[in-house]
Amino acid sequence: MDIKKDFPILSQKNRDKSLVYLDSAATSLTPKVVVDSEMKYYNEYGGSVHRSVYELGEKATNAYEKSRKNLANFIGAESSEIIFTKSATESINLVAESWGKDNLKKDDIILLTDMEHHSNIIPWQMICKRTGSKINYLKSKEDGTLDLNDYKKALNNKVKIVSITHASNVFGTINPVEEMIDLANNKEIKVLVDACQSAPHIKIDVKKMNCDFLAFSGHKMFGPTGVGVLYGKSDLLEEMDPYQTGGGIIETVTMEESTWTHSPYKFEPGSPMAAQAIALSDAADYLDNCLANDTSNIEEYSKEKMSSINGINIYGNAKHRTPIISFNIEGIHSLDLAHFLDYEGITIRSGHHCCQPLMNALNISSCARASFYFYNSKKDVDFLVDKINKAIKILK
Ligand SMILES: Cc1ncc(COP(=O)(O)O)c(C=O)c1O
Repeated sequence: MDIKKDFPILSQKNRDKSLVYLDSAATSLTPKVVVDSEMKYYNEYGGSVHRSVYELGEKATNAYEKSRKNLANFIGAESSEIIFTKSATESINLVAESWGKDNLKKDDIILLTDMEHHSNIIPWQMICKRTGSKINYLKSKEDGTLDLNDYKKALNNKVKIVSITHASNVFGTINPVEEMIDLANNKEIKVLVDACQSAPHIKIDVKKMNCDFLAFSGHKMFGPTGVGVLYGKSDLLEEMDPYQTGGGIIETVTMEESTWTHSPYKFEPGSPMAAQAIALSDAADYLDNCLANDTSNIEEYSKEKMSSINGINIYGNAKHRTPIISFNIEGIHSLDLAHFLDYEGITIRSGHHCCQPLMNALNISSCARASFYFYNSKKDVDFLVDKINKAIKILK
């Protein structure tokens, strides 16, 4: 798909070289149509959402709620089940805190995997401290996939919630979440799906998946920064207390106490991030079009091409994967490689990828990661391989 022209930033230079952007798993680039949508809010109807009777405010409120409806359609949910947050991180914190405080007690178990992002570990560690519950980790296999037999064994009667990533931000593995949710549901265990790395690449249908909660971020799927989504089943959301409090979420407030309005509004205190939420809806439309039309199979191509590099160690070998290659080159630190490639115009990520427990399990302190998106072509992969080979000659 030739969509490079939709991204003004791709015609810019990176350290005087043509930019080859390969860090979309961290944050994707934003097409002009999404930037325009955000600008339109500021230029044409930037009034206060949910608070104003004047026309500008009414227009802003309508656009904000239209966006909620569109994002609900995007993942097969109802509008009342879509909560705008500032990020997937905030979405997961919301569930860990608000659901966790009333549903977890001493010795209850939260089941995670060793491939979780810190955002899907630390919020649970915090609620464990307050409730006395514990975290168990399902270990991934050498190929970066999960063993469903281990998972079945781990689902004992102390487990109250499973919180799993749909796709790993290191291995690229797409986990079999539908099957995992089925197995948990049979034991009345709740499931949160971290869809940060899957929503940008595969069509999500929360009703088909049957998850209880699902979180994703706008900035990894062509959207603006500062906006994320939490999906929750309506009966669960109705039972939960607000995560943060303030204006906009109340029914009544006296000097002594307050009562809450219903979901999703009771989870959106303060003036919402209207411009970002509105533009996220346009990002979802843009992504839907890419999902329907892309045939590049860049995940296979990049895996095959990069495997040919001398001394490369690629982490993860799942069949069902997103276009992420995490790797180390023997004798070159990932940070040095990332610096070298930066001067060739290529942006890759290096470090622990907010997955220190997984790095420990893999017995490494860091790795390099190239992640591809719809604006990347096979030529970008070839260019990367060429420059890594150059790095090997110079740095080793
Ligand atoms: C799998 C996964 N979960 C959660 C997050 C956190 O996303 P954000 O920083 O947008 O909240 C990330 C971001 O890299 C991620 O890759």
